[in-house]
Amino acid sequence: MEVVICSSYEDMSRLAAKAVADVVRRKPNAVIGLATGSSPLGLYAELIRMHKEEGMDFSRVKTFNLDEYVGLAGDHEQSYRRFMNKNLFEGINIDIANTHVPDGLARDYARFCREYEEKIKAAGGVDVQVLGIGTDGHVGFNEPGDSLASRTHTVTLNEQTIKDNARFFEKESDVPLFACTMGVGTVLEARKCVLVANGKKKAKAVAAMIEGPISSMCTASALQMHNDTSVFLDEDAARDLKLADYYRWIQKHKPKAPK
Ligand code: GLP
Repeated sequence: MEVVICSSYEDMSRLAAKAVADVVRRKPNAVIGLATGSSPLGLYAELIRMHKEEGMDFSRVKTFNLDEYVGLAGDHEQSYRRFMNKNLFEGINIDIANTHVPDGLARDYARFCREYEEKIKAAGGVDVQVLGIGTDGHVGFNEPGDSLASRTHTVTLNEQTIKDNARFFEKESDVPLFACTMGVGTVLEARKCVLVANGKKKAKAVAAMIEGPISSMCTASALQMHNDTSVFLDEDAARDLKLADYYRWIQKHKPKAPK
């Protein structure tokens, strides 16, 4: 895992966006996996800036989102479809037909999940997957205890996640109890992963992900088994890392490192 400790949220967002943009520059029809939450907002703002100011082209890009709340229609204020339209898709020249977010109102989830996996495969697989991390160490909505081999499935959100996400809803009881998420196994098949985490609330989960044992108690720790994952952190999120100085040392010497 490459760990990049950044001086600020802005710096983190800029470097993570560059990692995603590099993939799109090399492969204009790239498939991007996307995450919601407040962490990647700066990354998405930077991609919009690159499109507007530098002509970054998304016209051939396809996207697949990690997850969606079960029970929310795509036009619901708090749906992840709405989040993506508002915070990324409306700001770039992507064809909305090429964007995929799990359906919050699927009638048959077993079938929906199978078909979502098939669509990802038919698109050629995910070239770069954007990720955040929950305070309980989840990626997507893969809660502690979930299988590290899971594919797209429905989950029952735990109380911590419901509490964490209540800030976006009027009241805690409005947060849906169920979600549909790509599995950890799905995420691990992405060719590259770019994870962003900021703030001291994430420090424990970040340390468990990078330096803890690989365990379903922190589903993000499965990324230790992925061979091209870059984690971009601000100082607060990095503060519990035992090897922080070594990660800084690696980045300092990176320009001279053998290719
Ligand atoms: C949600 C999403 C995750 C996201 C996490 C962290 O639960 N399902 O994909 O990574 O929240 O969110 P935030 O970035 O707002 O802290």
